[in-house]
Amino acid sequence: MTKPLDGIKIIDFTHVQAGPACTQLLAWFGADVIKVERPGSGDVTRNQLRDIPDADALYFTMLNSNKKSLTLDTKKPEGKEVLEKLIRESDVLVENFGPGALDRMGFSWERLNELNPKMIVASVKGFSDGHHYDDLKVYENVAQCAGGAASTTGFWDGPPTISAAALGDSNTGMHLAIGILTALLGRDKTGKGQKVAVSMQDSVLNLCRVKLRDQQRLERVGYLEEYPQYPHGEFGDVVPRGGNAGGGGQPGWVLKCKGWETDSNAYIYFTIQGHAWEPICKALGKPEWIEDPAYKTAEARQPHIFEIFKTIEAWLADKTKFEAVDILRKFDIPCAPVLTMKELANDPSLRASGTIVEVPHKKRGSYLTVGSPIKFSDMKPEVTASPLLGEHTDEVLAGLGYSKQDIFNLREMKAV
Ligand code: COA
Repeated sequence: MTKPLDGIKIIDFTHVQAGPACTQLLAWFGADVIKVERPGSGDVTRNQLRDIPDADALYFTMLNSNKKSLTLDTKKPEGKEVLEKLIRESDVLVENFGPGALDRMGFSWERLNELNPKMIVASVKGFSDGHHYDDLKVYENVAQCAGGAASTTGFWDGPPTISAAALGDSNTGMHLAIGILTALLGRDKTGKGQKVAVSMQDSVLNLCRVKLRDQQRLERVGYLEEYPQYPHGEFGDVVPRGGNAGGGGQPGWVLKCKGWETDSNAYIYFTIQGHAWEPICKALGKPEWIEDPAYKTAEARQPHIFEIFKTIEAWLADKTKFEAVDILRKFDIPCAPVLTMKELANDPSLRASGTIVEVPHKKRGSYLTVGSPIKFSDMKPEVTASPLLGEHTDEVLAGLGYSKQDIFNLREMKAV
């Protein structure tokens, strides 16, 4: 079956998570992604947090499926020559090195554009070009702090908190993938490549837009009515941490279910959607709340919202999180169990949809990984194992016209 990105050749000069997440997505959709790695060591994540000695770590395998691996020392003249050949016939080069690394290697945007004016050059950096921090190296949690996520996540009486979701890394990779696809469409019209740059700070901030909304509301009116601090607590001049409050107009909270004393995830998220108040009262066996002026409107409920949550918790006390959701769904109440990684890994629906897949690997045996979260009517992205270090070096070099003797010589020079 042909895939939408069949025929698009991508030089994957990425490492760790932000860049590899982007190129993995494009590989799922059919692009020919050639990961260029330093001979002998490769992407640092091959070795990070290994669970099986001598086999690539899950950190690597889960971000590099469907790719080829070419080892190449791009600081050696012979390695640069190979890279130049590859550049001349590729559609996209993706990189997420530290600031200036590509320039120091001799592959500035100007040089790349000269070598292949049709090629798209896509970069992830911690901060955008010209930003006063644009010389900084950045990892996930640094980006979450710089992009506004940390100052607005957590509880008001605790420190700024990092989310487990990779808002700085994989999220930035997803933004970059959108940029690359846009530039490819643009190239169809103009015939020209261009530089696509995404910063981790900008990508985190893009997902924190409702907090930027809240900053402006706070400055105008002095309070935020959907935050737990309202109406009894104090507001300062910056958006506070709101614990588990809902970010939109619907109050919600994480509520205890049966077994919470021993199971740290026996909780559901319960949302009090304005127009669902009547079904909520019926589900909870509190029909008297429907017309009670102290409960009837969202405004009336807010001053005692935690008392309402306590009543709901009393209702939940003899129900597991799954039983509770099964009842509440019949009343059309937006809610979900708090699911653990173990529950998600074994979820039959996620296996059936291809969101979680089991992939055979030459050294590891099979491993679980994420499949495409994007579903298409005409394509089912198939996930194949990540490559071993240098697994496709000979194949890629032969494709570039190198003979067996040339490849032998490159190996002798430790250029591949
Ligand atoms: N052959 C030879 N040299 C290679 C190579 C290859 N195939 N691949 C990489 N290198 C060299 C680079 O040229 C660079 O050398 P230089 O610093 O002497 O110029 C070096 O390896 C890589 O440097 P860098 O990317 O800065 O690695 P690091 O481990 O010091 O920093 C990060 C890691 C992630 C902090 C940094 O890459 C970064 O800030 N990236 C941008 C933001 C980002 O993507 N963050 C991580 C998200 S998961």
